[in-house]
Parts: sequence; C-alpha cells; structure tokens
Amino acid sequence: MPSTIRQNKSSRRRARRQRRRQALTKIISNDLITRVSDDEYKRKVKRVYGGPQGALLSLASTLSLHIPLGERLFRTRKFDLRGVRSVLDVGSGAGQIARHLIKYCDPETTITCTDLSQPMLRRARVKLKSSDPEFVTADLTHLPFADGSFDCVTCGYVLEHLPNPEPGLAEMARVLQPGGRMFLLTTEDNFGGAMTSRFWYCRMYNRKELLHTCEHLGLVCKQEIWFTKMHKAIRAGGICVEIEKAA
Ligand SMILES: C[S@@+](CC[C@H](N)C(=O)[O-])C[C@H]1O[C@@H](n2cnc3c(N)ncnc32)[C@H](O)[C@@H]1O
Repeated sequence: MPSTIRQNKSSRRRARRQRRRQALTKIISNDLITRVSDDEYKRKVKRVYGGPQGALLSLASTLSLHIPLGERLFRTRKFDLRGVRSVLDVGSGAGQIARHLIKYCDPETTITCTDLSQPMLRRARVKLKSSDPEFVTADLTHLPFADGSFDCVTCGYVLEHLPNPEPGLAEMARVLQPGGRMFLLTTEDNFGGAMTSRFWYCRMYNRKELLHTCEHLGLVCKQEIWFTKMHKAIRAGGICVEIEKAA
C-alpha cells in the first residue's frame, strides 16, 4: 500500500480516537459552571467546600498523592522558594500548598492564605498548626491587596472555578511584582480532568489556550512541571507551570 494512503488511514484513525475521547470527556464532565450565573455558581462552590465534601478535601488530596507529590516539587526545588519574601497562596483549601510553603520558604518569608470559603480557611488554620500565615477570605477575581504586594503567588486547583481564566490570572498578575513568579496548577481537559470536574463542579482548561491567555497578560511560562515522569507520559495531574510576570 502506498505510504500516503497508509498515512491518511492512520490520521483518520487518530482523529476518530480523539473524537471518541472528547465525546467521553464531555459525557463525564460537569458543565455547571457554564449553565448557571456566576453568582449562583459561586454560591454552589461555597456550599460544596463549606460542607462535608470540603471536609474530605485534605483526605482526597492525600489519596490522590497531590500532597506528597506536591511536597516533592518544592523539596527538590523544581519550583524554588528560596529567596521569596512574600507569598500569596490563592484558594488555599485545606492548606495543601500552604503546608509546603511553611516548610520550604525562608523563615522570614511572609505567607498569606486566601480562599472564597471561610470554613475552608478555618480547616486550613487547624491543619497547618502554624501561627505563620495570615488568612484572608477573598475571591480570586477581587483580591484585597495592593498592586505588586507579593513576589510569589501559588494557586493550586482553583482557577478551574472560573468560567473564564482571564480575570483570575489578571488579578493574580496585578498583585504580583514585575519579575515575580507564580506556581499555577489547574485541571486539564482530559479524562482525569473530566472526573475532577464532575466531583468538584469545576471546568477544565486546554493547556495551549491557557498558556496563550497567560502570554497575552504578560505572564511568561518559564517551565512546565510534572509530578513524575509517569504523570508526564499519561498527561495526569493537570496543567502545572511556573510563570514569571514580565519585568
Ligand atoms: C480543590 S481546592 C484547592 C485547594 C488547594 N489549593 C490545593 O492545591 O489542593 C479549591 C479551593 O478553591 C476555592 N475557591 C473556589 N473558587 C474560588 C474563588 N473564586 N476565589 C478563591 N477561592 C476559590 C475553594 O473554596 C477551595 O477551597
């Protein structure tokens, strides 16, 4: 068989497989975020995280290995926290990322934790057992901080709670100093992401599109980070990137 015919056949097969995967992802995913108003959606998110599901968040993060693998990223300095003076953790949840900040930031670094959900921040305070972080209830799209207040921002699995990433990314960029760095981790549009979206009522992002939005806001992707080689091979764990705000 001539090679062009073989190539056409295999590209058609690939396209068919991709369409099947997309259809399956669509069936599994939860599109609440696009079906209800912004206010209604935020109320739902507050209820989910304020209730029993939120109480299980820390356990879920341990079972999914998000906590231990996340710790390894900071311990091995894949995202280097040395020299950071002030860090803002956006959507702290049960303090899954904040606990690593407390452990791996310099002792004089100031740490601020924010979340839309007050009960979630209370849980973080209890779990972290540290007097270090300041806890502030705030919406990611309206952060109560002056421009350039922080030289580092971390945001793990929160951006997917916005129908459109731009206002959230722009707000985090606003409070970040020029040259400051961001650790961004969010749900990707694949099978694993669809399951996450169903359970936690969030959306998924396309990697290319998200990085394009970052670029448009002057947020330069310094590196894509993977929890392990296995995560990279099967595209698991979500979109994890180190971003720098253009100076
Ligand atoms: C899946 S948890 C992530 C927790 C933690 N950052 C982590 O890495 O596992 C998502 C958190 O984002 C918070 N959240 C959702 N929408 C938010 C918003 N618009 N502004 C701030 N926090 C928000 C939720 O209350 C919840 O605590």
